[in-house]
Amino acid sequence: MKPTGTLSTILSLATGSLLVLLAYAQVRAQDAPPPAPQDGVHESAAPHAAGPLLDLRRIQPLRGDAAAGKAKSALCSNCHGEQGISIVPIFPNLAGQRAEYMYWQLVESKLGNLPPSTMTPLVADLSDADMRDLAAYYASLPPNPPLPADRPGDETATPPAADVLARGQALYLEGSPEAGIPPCQGCHGRDALGFRNALQPNRSGHVPYATYPILRGQQRDYLQIRLGQYQGDEFNDSTPDLVMSGVGHRLDPDSIAALSSYLSSLYGN
Ligand code: HEC
Ligand code: HEC
Repeated sequence: MKPTGTLSTILSLATGSLLVLLAYAQVRAQDAPPPAPQDGVHESAAPHAAGPLLDLRRIQPLRGDAAAGKAKSALCSNCHGEQGISIVPIFPNLAGQRAEYMYWQLVESKLGNLPPSTMTPLVADLSDADMRDLAAYYASLPPNPPLPADRPGDETATPPAADVLARGQALYLEGSPEAGIPPCQGCHGRDALGFRNALQPNRSGHVPYATYPILRGQQRDYLQIRLGQYQGDEFNDSTPDLVMSGVGHRLDPDSIAALSSYLSSLYGN
């Protein structure tokens, strides 16, 4: 579900998403005409984005309480697993993912800016502190722990062919000049562990690349779905959405399959 055009708020993102959410509720409640966008919130240039563009280029490093997040994570573990490794391949792993990326995904989900999923109604009940704590908790878990042998879903998965893996690796590292696909490693890291030094604040104290996710060992089916969504222009409500959609538009089913196979094959390595 997309938010209405009244979502244009007068707020700066620097004051935090809680204010954004409060303003969202207020603007919705009053059904007022949208005020002029200000610092941090800009009208979107994307063709069918309904609300203002969330500008995440000036975010601060996330503050959250991982221990409190753990205490709140029981519901989430039903799908994302006790160790942050999801129970089925269509749900994303969260273990070791960047806290900033996860927090802003939850905020976007709560704003109604993500394609609806089984998770959407659950996020509606989370407070800003919940989202910070949960993001801090999953970020603190070790990535790619050893898998239980009997994890559901795995027995039906056919291992990818060597040529598919090689194509995925080449696309990841070098892109495809003919197809206009940039090298993924430029933004997600050579080892797919995320943008290099993304957590190091710049001179203004901002971490603009902390919302560039880690991809190493992510679930293959989830990657396929998500890349298909970028390709189909389903993410266009934030600055990182637009960055990745620009890449996604260049992909086709073959390149999506190869990239998803390659990245998921890095699990545990
Ligand atoms: C019913 C299953 C389910 C439950 C329960 C669930 N999620 Fe999710 N989660 C998903 C699915 C499916 C996605 C991918 C689609 C989406 O982003 O909506 C997802 C995506 C995410 C993402 C974005 C990950 C990425 O790589 O983009 C985060 C962060 C997340 N969930 C956190 C949580 C937290 C925190 C909770 C507990 C409050 C939770 N989830 C509960 C199914 C679930
Ligand atoms: C110019 C920088 C840039 C390049 C190049 C890039 N990405 Fe991304 N990617 C991003 C950003 C930013 C996001 C976060 C988008 C969002 O918030 O939805 C992202 C998100 C993703 C996600 C979602 C991860 C998750 O957990 O849901 C996947 C998958 C992905 N990129 C794969 C790729 C692949 C494969 C390539 C190479 C074909 C690539 N990216 C190239 C910047 C980039």
